[in-house]
This record gives sequence, C-alpha cells and structure tokens, in this order.
Amino acid sequence: MQKLEVFGAKKLKGQINISGSKNASLPILASTLLSNKKIYLKNIPKVNDIETMINLLKSLGSKVKFEKKDLVINNSGQDKKFAAYKLVKTMRAGILVLGPLLAKFGNAKVSLPGGCAIGSRPIDLHLQALSKLGVEYKIYQGYVHAFAPKGLKGSNIHFSKISVGATENLIIAACLAKGITKLSNCAIEPEIKDLTNFLVKLGCNIKWVGKRSIKIIGVNQIKQTTYSVMFDRIEAGTYLIAAAITEGNLIIKKIIPDVIKTEINILKKIGVKILAKKREIKVIGGKKIKNLNIKTAPYPGFPTDLQAQIMVLLCKASKESFIQEDIFENRFMHVAELNRMGAQISIKGNKVLIKGNIKFASAELMATDLRASVSLILAALTAKGKTIINRIYHLDRGYEELEKKLKKVGAKIRRIK
Ligand code: EPZ
Repeated sequence: MQKLEVFGAKKLKGQINISGSKNASLPILASTLLSNKKIYLKNIPKVNDIETMINLLKSLGSKVKFEKKDLVINNSGQDKKFAAYKLVKTMRAGILVLGPLLAKFGNAKVSLPGGCAIGSRPIDLHLQALSKLGVEYKIYQGYVHAFAPKGLKGSNIHFSKISVGATENLIIAACLAKGITKLSNCAIEPEIKDLTNFLVKLGCNIKWVGKRSIKIIGVNQIKQTTYSVMFDRIEAGTYLIAAAITEGNLIIKKIIPDVIKTEINILKKIGVKILAKKREIKVIGGKKIKNLNIKTAPYPGFPTDLQAQIMVLLCKASKESFIQEDIFENRFMHVAELNRMGAQISIKGNKVLIKGNIKFASAELMATDLRASVSLILAALTAKGKTIINRIYHLDRGYEELEKKLKKVGAKIRRIK
C-alpha cells in the first residue's frame, strides 16, 4: 500500500495546468459503445478510474489504446454485453455502459455498482427511466439483467430526483431509440453538456429545450469523430482552495472560469482574492478567512465534490461555519481524520459545524474516498512537520499527476511504498 508524505507549512506559488475532466470522460467513453466507427478522444486524464473504464470497454470487446496523447477507440468488433462485478465494483460509473449496450444490442447484463464510502449509490432512477423506453429487467445475484424485446422506443421521462448518472445513461440510450425522447428534471452538470456536445458530433440528434429538459430523436447512423473533453472543474476548484488555504499565489490555467462561477463567488465571499481571465484564474490566499454557511446542491449549486476541500478552508475562518451535505448520505468520512489534525468539526445528521481559527497539526492519516483524500493533503500543506496519508489509491482514481503538480508550485510531498 502506497502512502503520501507531506511536509508543511508551505505557501504554494506558481502555475498549475488543469487536466481533462474525469467525470466528462467516463460517460463519453461509455457512450462510444453506440458507434462502430473509430473515435479519437483528446484531453482524457490518465487516472485510475479512466483505466478501469478502458478495461471495462475492452472486456466488452472494444479496442482501446492511447496513440500519443489521443485515446483511440474502435468498437467495430465490440459484441459483448456483460459488465463484470470486478470492474464495476471499484468504479460506480461502470453502470453507464448499461444505456449504450441496451441501445445497441437490446440486452445487457451489468453488475450493480454496490455501495461505497460516500453512500449506497442506488440505480433505481436509471432503471425506472429505462423501463419507460421499453426495457424490462430483473436484479439477480448482484447483476441487472436487462432486455428490450422490441428495441428501445422514445418516451417522455421526468426524473423524480436530479441524478447525474441517470441523466447520462438515459441520454445515451435515447440516441438510438426509435422516435422522440424528452427527458425533464435532468442534471445539468457541465460534464453532461460535454457529453451531449460529443454525441451531437457523433451524429446524434440532441437539443436542450429547457433549463433541465432535453429532446432526443433516435438516429441509426453514427459518425466517426474526434473530440476533446472539457477541463476538470473539481480539480480546478481543489487547487483554488489549495492556494487559499496555504496563503499562496497560483495561476490556474487551461480552464473556463465561467463554468466554476459558483465556486469563485463562494471563495470571494470567504475573502480569497480571485482574478478570472478568459482561460485562467489568478488566486491569492490571505491571512483573513471569513466564515460562511454552505449547502451542496446539483449544478449550478456548490458541488458536493468540493465539500471536503472547502471544509478544510473553513477550519481557518475567524468564526464558525456549517456545511450541509444534501447530495450524498455519508460524505463526512474526512471529518474524523481532520479532527485528528486538530480540527473541531461536529457532525449532526447531514450537517457539520466547523469551529474556526484552527491550526492543523501534522499526523498519520487514512484516506477514505477520492475527494476526502485530497482534503487531507490540503490540511497537511498548512501543518508544520510531516503528515503521512495512507490508502492513497483513492487519490489516484481522480487526480492526474497530483504530486508533480503540487511539487512544481513548492509543496514538499512524496509517495512512499
Ligand atoms: C456523479 O455521481 C459523479 N460521478 C460524482 O462524483 C458526483 O459526486 C455526483 O455525480 C453528484 O454530482 C461521476 O460523474 C462519475 P447522482 P452519480 O446520480 O451519477 C442518488 C467524484 O468524486 N441516486 O447525481 O452517482 C444518489 O445516491 C464522484 O468524482 C438515487 O437515489 O451521482 C445520490 O444521493 C463522487 N438513485 C444522489 O442521487 C439513482 O438511481 C446524486 O447521485 C441515482 C442516484
């Protein structure tokens, strides 16, 4: 098991290039199953979740390989419809192959994602909506056995709850369904817009017809295409907070600031100096951090994927704050670890109360999930002395070259076996 060793306290100075988005790449990769043509994807981040998705596609018969920086996918010989537990259990987004497999073959056997550190991760919204397209399914021995005896047929579907994955699965499935599908109460995360931009380039007929409504007319012709995925807005938000918490001075490049205006406004309210230009942001951390009460929400609200990171910053505010986690039922695994570094955070249901004026002390810690693990690094950067973070495989799922990027801006951080 690898660990990270972080020596604080360090002020981060310099510039960081943001990688491609993991959460845009995963649904886009899954949706390539719709096509039998060669597809070239650019700006795909080299992180473990992407590797897992590539292995999942290969297990389904896809040919996938990196040619220099491009990821080339050829599904001409792709003919399997079985997504195994061993691949889906480590990466819940594996369920996103269900929609395209049903659209293409009319049947699929896909492992249930199973729970994880942040929650039970049900897929009821995916299945309810797919059944509206004519899919029949049964859950048996940990798998969804799904089939559409008469193929997928377009329908009007209203999601009872906003779900990123369910919206993505249904958009992809509807692309080859016969007739018109209208989805309403969709998630509208930027990664979903990236997915629909990609699918339109593939030749699909998709139009956003309302804030959370989309109209899809099934096609039977899919083109060959090249596409570059968007930047990772959660990685960008993480480094903005890193500059703020270390009283550093960073230029975050290869981003579109408008996509993360909620995060920028929240950081400005907390007292962080932010200058946004067209494709980059300059962020200057200062001594004074103001307290703020935050609730996580679906886009364009404050993202749950930055909840752990902003919590660390609020520990340094002059007064106490609270955070309410309204998306996942168990996303406070990082609290116990932060309290071991001297934080005073108390959990009440889906709310945490965060005492201010905390000086983090170095400690030996354990990462529990992807975003929690990076919040421990943020705290460690401000703590004098050596912090050890165990189980950093969580980190490797979603942050490309994290140590290298941090070292380049002055962090003292290294991986130890
Ligand atoms: C996506 O997960 C992201 N993952 C998550 O990022 C992100 O935290 C989440 O959206 C919310 O923004 C990817 O894009 C690969 P949901 P997803 O369906 O699709 C409940 C990261 O760190 N729900 O919007 O699984 C669910 O339990 C990851 O990169 C149902 O009840 O999220 C949760 O409470 C973590 N039934 C809420 O909805 C369903 O059928 C939101 O889940 C589906 C979801």
